[in-house]
Amino acid sequence: MLGIKYPIIGGTMMHLSRPDFVAAISDSGCLGILASAIYLDKESFRDAIRKIRRKTDKPFGVNLNMFPTRKKLDNNVYIDVILEEGVPVVETSGHKAPEEYVDRLKSGGVKLIHKCVGVKYAKKAESLGVDVITVVGYENGGATGMLDITTLCLVPRVVDNVDIPVIGGGGVADGRGMAAILSLGADGVIMGTRLLTAEECPLHPRIKQKLIEASELDTMLVLRSLGNTHRVWKNKAAQITAEMEQRGATLEELLKVISGDQTKRLYFEGNLDVGLLPCGQGVGLVREIKPVREIISEIIEEFNEAVGRLNALFETIC
Ligand SMILES: Cc1cc2nc3c(=O)[nH]c(=O)nc-3n(C[C@H](O)[C@H](O)[C@H](O)COP(=O)(O)O)c2cc1C
Repeated sequence: MLGIKYPIIGGTMMHLSRPDFVAAISDSGCLGILASAIYLDKESFRDAIRKIRRKTDKPFGVNLNMFPTRKKLDNNVYIDVILEEGVPVVETSGHKAPEEYVDRLKSGGVKLIHKCVGVKYAKKAESLGVDVITVVGYENGGATGMLDITTLCLVPRVVDNVDIPVIGGGGVADGRGMAAILSLGADGVIMGTRLLTAEECPLHPRIKQKLIEASELDTMLVLRSLGNTHRVWKNKAAQITAEMEQRGATLEELLKVISGDQTKRLYFEGNLDVGLLPCGQGVGLVREIKPVREIISEIIEEFNEAVGRLNALFETIC
């Protein structure tokens, strides 16, 4: 349906999912997704889409952000450009279903994926006419929602409750994870954390190095007090955020630590202690900095090995 070789979606990453990185993911046979919310005007967004097209002739997607944000260009402006430029796939994600966008996107021939964290949200999106549901469990990097359902339980529950294809993720960081998600009945997987240390990811090398040294214990949940729970890398800023939430800090107070400007200091200046970095428990499985293409071929190889092991086991059992 999406025209990709491997059933792997490179998860949208705010500030990071820029043209070179997105194109590298798509060019490796997966679906790269551009984060529209990075772009604060129509023309720079259009330039980003064209840049992806210059780098790859493979399909890619654009994410429409429906999470609460401060600086916000109306999503309809991005949709104008998406339709004008013939972007083949759109992913919506956020705290609500994409009701107001479905008709425009679908009548423009766009394949629409909606990402969510629970069965009821998946069913709602299906009823609106989206083509594909992505669900991510509690271990995932970034928004975890309020339901706290693990990937192992969430994926089959959603598979059983919708009739459209399902992409599963949250903690998928190698081919074993991919085999597991597909065994649960999903049609594809989504990965964010694993790709953070890809060479093409514009994250500062010092942060990438810290991530490959990290274990599955090095993430934590923050921002639940704002109803916007995120799993992030356990740095000083994340710990300060949790302490501030514990003593009832307001949004204005929290913004001094959690704003996008702080995040950019972490991402692009390599300042370890400031800003929040969404990061999943799968970080414990990430061991090397290497190009996206190599990451994907390694994952496919591991996937084949995992399936081979299951086949051998099947022969023994049955
Ligand atoms: C650094 C980072 C930033 C992210 N930013 C966004 C975002 O802006 N919008 C979104 O829908 N998901 C975002 N996510 C979530 C990913 O798209 C994806 O759903 C998630 O990473 C999958 O779980 P995993 O990290 O366990 O692989 C982000 C994830 C990471 C790691």
